[in-house]
Amino acid sequence: MSRQLEEVKSLISLREKARLGGGQKRIDSQHEKGKFTARERIAMLLDEGSFEEFDMFVTHRCTNFGMEKNRVLGDGVVTGYGTIGGRLVYVFAQDFTVLGGSLSETFAQKICKVMDIAMKVGAPVIGINDSGGARIQEGVNALAGYTEIFQRNILASGVIPQISAIFGPCAGGAVYSPALTDFNIMSKGSYMFLTGPKVVKSVLGEDVTQETLGGASVHSSKSGVAHFSVDNEEIGIETIKELLSYLPQNNMERTPLVPTNDPINRMDDLLNDIIPDNPNKPYNMYSVIQSIVDDGKFLEVHKDYAKSLIVGFARFDGIAVGIVANQPSVLAGVLDSNSSRKGARFVRFCDAFNIPIITLEDVPGFLPGTQQEYNGIILHGAKLLYAFGEATVPKITVVLRKAYGGAYCVMSSKHLRGDINYAWPTAEIAVMGPSGAIEILYGKELQEAEDKEAFKAEKEKEYRDAFANPYNAAKYGYIDDVIEPRNTRFRIIRALHQLENKKLTNPAKKHDNLPL
Ligand code: HXC
Repeated sequence: MSRQLEEVKSLISLREKARLGGGQKRIDSQHEKGKFTARERIAMLLDEGSFEEFDMFVTHRCTNFGMEKNRVLGDGVVTGYGTIGGRLVYVFAQDFTVLGGSLSETFAQKICKVMDIAMKVGAPVIGINDSGGARIQEGVNALAGYTEIFQRNILASGVIPQISAIFGPCAGGAVYSPALTDFNIMSKGSYMFLTGPKVVKSVLGEDVTQETLGGASVHSSKSGVAHFSVDNEEIGIETIKELLSYLPQNNMERTPLVPTNDPINRMDDLLNDIIPDNPNKPYNMYSVIQSIVDDGKFLEVHKDYAKSLIVGFARFDGIAVGIVANQPSVLAGVLDSNSSRKGARFVRFCDAFNIPIITLEDVPGFLPGTQQEYNGIILHGAKLLYAFGEATVPKITVVLRKAYGGAYCVMSSKHLRGDINYAWPTAEIAVMGPSGAIEILYGKELQEAEDKEAFKAEKEKEYRDAFANPYNAAKYGYIDDVIEPRNTRFRIIRALHQLENKKLTNPAKKHDNLPL
């Protein structure tokens, strides 16, 4: 055999060794836990045969605690690029079979390399997390490595989409990289927390499990850290692919059109009769969304968190949009601290990535009470207000029913540079709802009235006739048109096409001072 052939053979065997990561035993143990390996995850994520790997021969440089005897090719993270649906993406997947996927200096350098190239090229980065955190033997070098990643997450924010999947442990400061990215997808059985159950027990005396402290359901319903909670890794990977289909490659591009056979002028008669006669009765906003978007397809973000506001992605005539919609069937669609934060984050994402925003409004106002006030509803509400006000993407709003008080102003009103603001004939636009208004306007008369109920009903009717309609706002041009509900899809599509070349910039500044 020639020397060259021998070299080629040795390269092939080195590659095979690298592909085994921490070895077959640990791969089997990963499978026994119902988890995939880093390479299997990448294979499921990317178009077949498209993966090009970087740094397969990197090893760590640590010599503490006999680590020089424990070097594995690739050092516990698989990195590179490939395509999803033909579009370029950069990926890294932490390999739990190598020292528990713990992060070393060189491991971090590999991740930083893909992030740097992704920024130069303008393509999304997808990180799959499954790691015991900072590699303890490396001390400060591991911490430095994490921080180099955080810095890149920060600079990439708003430039390229960043998506994190959590398919295993993600603990300690390691949580901050996913937290800095745009979307977190957690699979059942994975967990994220700053301090684990043992520390919680010793400091607070609380007994908690990993699941109850930081499992996927906790972060998708209570903390809002996770945008998607999925039953298994396969669904997680499919969610990433679907999510990417709504996103552009970077902040200078638009999301590619996805042609549809769904007619642009498809009308849905059910929408003409969806609003209950009783203004205090709910209906389901999902029915409206499904009725008007292309093929009824809607990718909801933060589905289980702050459910009085719905946010997510859909398409109109192939154009990807972000939908922000009050949900009358949860707390009457009220805005509270959490739903305001959820909405603000979503609106800012859409604005950063040139995704038009469609707002479907039916909101009785902000949630009153000490709990909300102590929680900072003033600041959180201001975030949503700020987000809509600074957004320069096309903004189309449809008021379906209630648009009361501050919530009217906040929900992409004309006064926050809403481009096209429509209302259904059932819209009620006023400073507050009839009942509250009458209590304030006629407090004394109500006390003195012989038949309080009849007096209140009469005054409420007067108030409704005056304000609980869209025509008062339309009279001032704050509503561009009152539309037939069944025609909503067509009117939104028309508006989107009209606004295709919208150009609007905000004043130059170093950065804003969003009320955090
Ligand atoms: C070095 C680690 C490691 C780590 C795991 N391993 N975590 N090695 N540094 N942080 C190694 C284990 O020694 C073991 O090696 C292998 O990975 C698998 O770990 P096991 O414990 O056997 O696996 P499992 O039972 O599944 O438990 C997984 C685990 C546990 C829950 C993640 O390993 C664990 O608690 N690890 C430590 C978590 C942690 O506290 N990390 C530091 C967080 S602080 P062998 O050779 O036996 O297979 C942090 C600071 C970051 O990350 C700050 C950034 C700013």
